[in-house]
Amino acid sequence: MKQFVEEILITEDEIAKKVKELGERISLDYKGKDLLLICVLKGAIMFMSDLSKEITIPMDMDFMAVSSYGASTQSSGVVKIIKDLDTSIENRHIIIVEDIIDSGLTLSYLIQNLESRKPASLAICTLLDKPARRVSRVKPDYTGFVIEDHFVVGYGLDYDEKFRNVPYVFIPKAEIIK
Ligand code: PRP
Ligand code: MN
Ligand code: MG
Repeated sequence: MKQFVEEILITEDEIAKKVKELGERISLDYKGKDLLLICVLKGAIMFMSDLSKEITIPMDMDFMAVSSYGASTQSSGVVKIIKDLDTSIENRHIIIVEDIIDSGLTLSYLIQNLESRKPASLAICTLLDKPARRVSRVKPDYTGFVIEDHFVVGYGLDYDEKFRNVPYVFIPKAEIIK
């Protein structure tokens, strides 16, 4: 994959260390509570998988698929639910797990949608936060890394569905982005 990499922004080790910290914090904060992690597919798949392994209290997982980017590097602003949750979230403590908050449009839509289902509480955990491009005000409760305004891929994040499998977060070479 090295031929596609302009710069590695966050290494595997840095991710692992941060994910462990977040898992420990969540385990303390949600002790004794009915915790449900909601993975926002597809981007959050790697983060969800690693984060859940660092959580040391009982918890459930569910998955939701939404898409606003398609094959573009820019958010269309139109969020589409491709797959909804399997379970009710009423009176449960939920954490939405995201790979990145960019414009914030995906999450503000999701928050509004999930709040209407009356969870006991709703928090946001994101691996990456890119505040430079925020359109809709969203404030994560748990953040891995705050990053500059770069287009990044890897560790779940894609460009045209590629590079999700790369174990680190990187800036791709300009010539591969159409
Ligand atoms: C990406 C990313 C976040 C969202 C962030 O998902 O995984 O979910 O965009 O952008 P925003 O803050 O500007 O809304 P995408 O729509 O590309 O779907 P994917 O997770 O399947 O790649
Ligand atoms: Mn996504
Ligand atoms: Mg995407």
